[in-house]
Amino acid sequence: MNIIIGSDHAGYDLKEECKSYLQKIGIHRVTDIGAFNRESIDYPRIAHQVAAAVEKGEYERGILVCGTGIGMSMTANRHAGVRAALCLDLYSARMSRLHNDANILALGGRVLGVGLALEILEVFLKTPFEGGRHKPRIDQIEC
Ligand code: RB5
Repeated sequence: MNIIIGSDHAGYDLKEECKSYLQKIGIHRVTDIGAFNRESIDYPRIAHQVAAAVEKGEYERGILVCGTGIGMSMTANRHAGVRAALCLDLYSARMSRLHNDANILALGGRVLGVGLALEILEVFLKTPFEGGRHKPRIDQIEC
């Protein structure tokens, strides 16, 4: 799977952990668009870049990390065809895929511990979309 990942300064450490995990399991191609250090950076710039790439179909999935995950998910969801899910627990991660076919995962680097965050990431990547009655519903998301 082709994955694009990005963070602001507040999500930098967790973004690095996610990237290392993805590289370690080795089944995904990961493109990191920054931040590349902990210097302050505006999250919308990163979120728009990741969401635009997913919108264009250049990547199957995106991962965005800021302090809470809130600003990243708000920004990414302005893009057509993007369904960014802010997941802070495993159930939400699973349902975001089964029912919502989420294509971007937003994580809160100041909210989640690394262990839980990586489990959320794994569930997000491994869980398929259920389709069926959920397909017309996700089609209705677009305005
Ligand atoms: C940065 O201080 C913080 O506002 C940002 O990372 C994010 O949590 C916004 O939603």
